[in-house]
Amino acid sequence: MSHSQFPYSRHRRLRSSENIRRMAAEHHLLPRDFIAPLFVMEGKNRKEEIPSMPGYFRFSIDLMLTEAEEIVSLGIPSVLLFAKVPDEKKDNKGTEALNPEGLMQQAIRALKEQFPELVVMTDVALDPYSSYGHDGIVEDGQILNDESAELLAKMAVSHAEAGADFVAPSDMMDGRILMIREALEEMGYVNTGIMSYSAKYASSYYGPFRDALDSAPGFGDKKTYQMDPSNVTEAVKEAISDEQEGADIIMVKPGLPYLDVVRAVKESVYLPVSVYNVSGEYAMIKAAANMGWIDEEDAMMEALISFKRAGADLIATYFAKDAARLLQK
Ligand code: PBG
Repeated sequence: MSHSQFPYSRHRRLRSSENIRRMAAEHHLLPRDFIAPLFVMEGKNRKEEIPSMPGYFRFSIDLMLTEAEEIVSLGIPSVLLFAKVPDEKKDNKGTEALNPEGLMQQAIRALKEQFPELVVMTDVALDPYSSYGHDGIVEDGQILNDESAELLAKMAVSHAEAGADFVAPSDMMDGRILMIREALEEMGYVNTGIMSYSAKYASSYYGPFRDALDSAPGFGDKKTYQMDPSNVTEAVKEAISDEQEGADIIMVKPGLPYLDVVRAVKESVYLPVSVYNVSGEYAMIKAAANMGWIDEEDAMMEALISFKRAGADLIATYFAKDAARLLQK
């Protein structure tokens, strides 16, 4: 009898009850898969909903700690910190990014003090600090690579000094992982990890995030440093470079339109692979659910399991709390 001969082989047997489906499931989601992004802003007792990300907020440090408490209690092991920098503190040299008393540095210290076990990851990129809204230093309309990478290495050290467990460079300058690794080693931060945004595409799905941080590029676009959506081999090349330069976790971003890239990268490196389920992906599900066009919880869980299926080990997602809550039930 051949393996697939009906009726001996009936695929529906393994789908016939909830428990059998659970036993046959090839992939699973757990709260420990999630990295929860946190947007922090200046002030006290402040909480602002991001209009293009319904249900997602920017917090002042005090309220961010309350939010972190909830994240921790849901079994989510890690947060990814982003700072919203007021316009008057932006320039073309990332001055505020290196301020030991800056918002990011204060937020890191506050989180590590209150939740020593929480894995604090920090965004390393210039765009929230840049008067041009670009991820590097701008000269004559160009984004300088080596000068920017040098500055990013200083920024990473500043986050490590404040207590960050992982720095997460999201800028796409060449060679920055090596420069960051060397700077961390030199300063004695040998245990500070690097989660590299290795394959970050020039994507329209970052729109709501740029609203959240007021970080949209002031001129042009990010296509000279972020990747072309047509490419997949290039993502593998980027990931291998970052592995060789000393990255500890490789990230692919965005998520849903790039599941093939997650798979290709996972098969090419010997490191955990994370995926960023970005702001626009969150906004699309929220918007359609608000219209009553899809079921929010089902669509969310289906998106999240697709990342595991594609090979992701970790998922940075604005749905982290909602999904963890569902998984607890
Ligand atoms: C910038 C950065 C971006 C995101 C994370 N870091 C946006 C961009 O490159 O313009 C996007 C995250 C999201 O959309 O959720 N360094």
